[in-house]
Amino acid sequence: MNVLVIGKGGREHALVWKLKQSPRVTQVFCAPGNAGTALDGVNVPIEANDVDGLIRFAKKERIVLTVVGPEDPLSHGIVDHFRKAALTIFGPTKAAAQLEASKAFAKKLMRDADVPTAEFRVFDHPEPARTFIETREYPVVVKADGLAAGKGVMVCATKQEALAAVERIMVREEFGRAAGRQVVIEKRLDGEELSVLALVSGRTIIPLAPAQDHKRALDNDEGPNTGGMGAYSPAPLATPALLDEIESHALVPTVHALKRRRTPFRGVLYAGVIVTNQGPRILEYNCRFGDPETQPVLMRLKTDLFELLLATAEDRLSELVDKPLEWDPRPAVCVVMASQGYPGSYPKGKLITGLEEAALLPNVKVFHAGTKFEGGHTMTDGGRVLGVTALGETLAEAKRHAYDAVAKIHFAGACYRRDIADKALKKSVVSGP
Ligand SMILES: Nc1ncnc2c1ncn2[C@@H]1O[C@H](COP(=O)(O)OP(=O)(O)O)[C@@H](O)[C@H]1O
Ligand SMILES: [Mg+2]
Repeated sequence: MNVLVIGKGGREHALVWKLKQSPRVTQVFCAPGNAGTALDGVNVPIEANDVDGLIRFAKKERIVLTVVGPEDPLSHGIVDHFRKAALTIFGPTKAAAQLEASKAFAKKLMRDADVPTAEFRVFDHPEPARTFIETREYPVVVKADGLAAGKGVMVCATKQEALAAVERIMVREEFGRAAGRQVVIEKRLDGEELSVLALVSGRTIIPLAPAQDHKRALDNDEGPNTGGMGAYSPAPLATPALLDEIESHALVPTVHALKRRRTPFRGVLYAGVIVTNQGPRILEYNCRFGDPETQPVLMRLKTDLFELLLATAEDRLSELVDKPLEWDPRPAVCVVMASQGYPGSYPKGKLITGLEEAALLPNVKVFHAGTKFEGGHTMTDGGRVLGVTALGETLAEAKRHAYDAVAKIHFAGACYRRDIADKALKKSVVSGP
């Protein structure tokens, strides 16, 4: 059976690599893909937003399952279009994808469904937003309503910063007119963050192994926010009790609320959680696999991913609910190597060397993100370039393996954090083995 993955990042390379391992899968196509998806699958030169082109391709190649990586095509309704063309596709409809595409929608749904989340207000004019900020006695976070490629959220230390954030989002429309039409202002919370991803179809929810991302560009969580500089799974922070609480207090009421509104969710529901002293709070929902969390999570998944995603897309996940997912007990760590300047502007077209040497290391998989193959060479082609991922008997060993592989790989201006997984390692020292 032939499968199509849409996108070109590290997450999509991990999906291609894992889907390809299914005994039922013949060929995995990736549109448009990168140099890594071309090695583990077959690239197709169709952009992720070219829905007509993708549908034509899926029909021609008799694709049995299409898996959407990024949020943009989901928010534009790619799933609705594929279903109308009688094609099977993994992901939520446009209506359900509002959960990620509109933060105001998500916050209101959470309030209606009693999901624990930060106190908030939604504004569609700057003036009342300013007044609200002036009268708050706590620090706030200001969020553009719409998709902003991870740049539309400002965690503010002062009122001045919060007022400036409103200016940037609503007046200067720095994240686009549509994304800045509304703003969510919410209470700033304190705690460690956790990503909880679950497969969802109908009322069935199957959580995946939890992971922790590293959002900031620099060591010790300094520097600007990025798409993610590294991740590990499992997350020692995510005890079974905490995961149960997140499932029953957040995932279940959210899935039920969407179903009641006649916009049932099918796909992967990703809860961005902050664990406060008062318990877990949902910061946001995403409607697709996380990047880079997917890389260490899929590295550990032993269950056939194709079966899982097909069952989700066909709305028969309930058939699998009694079969627990199988995980490699070993932890996995992913270190993102980025171009110099990322998340700001950065050069492209730098030669990457050492990929073959890194691939020879046991327990290592180098997932490509912003790469392309040109003239017999692999070159950089994006901000985040590679997700170097490794398994180890312990988290410390997984980290060591990942950084051993990183040390073999070179390109001009390569940047990466040196402290991926350290937070969890410190914790395990405190709480014992
Ligand atoms: N209420 C909050 N309190 C503290 N930090 C927050 C809050 N909301 C968001 N953040 C921080 O900002 C980051 C991005 O916010 P999020 O809502 O996940 O939006 P996006 O991922 O779309 O940029 C979070 O990962 C978190 O670090
Ligand atoms: Mg987020």
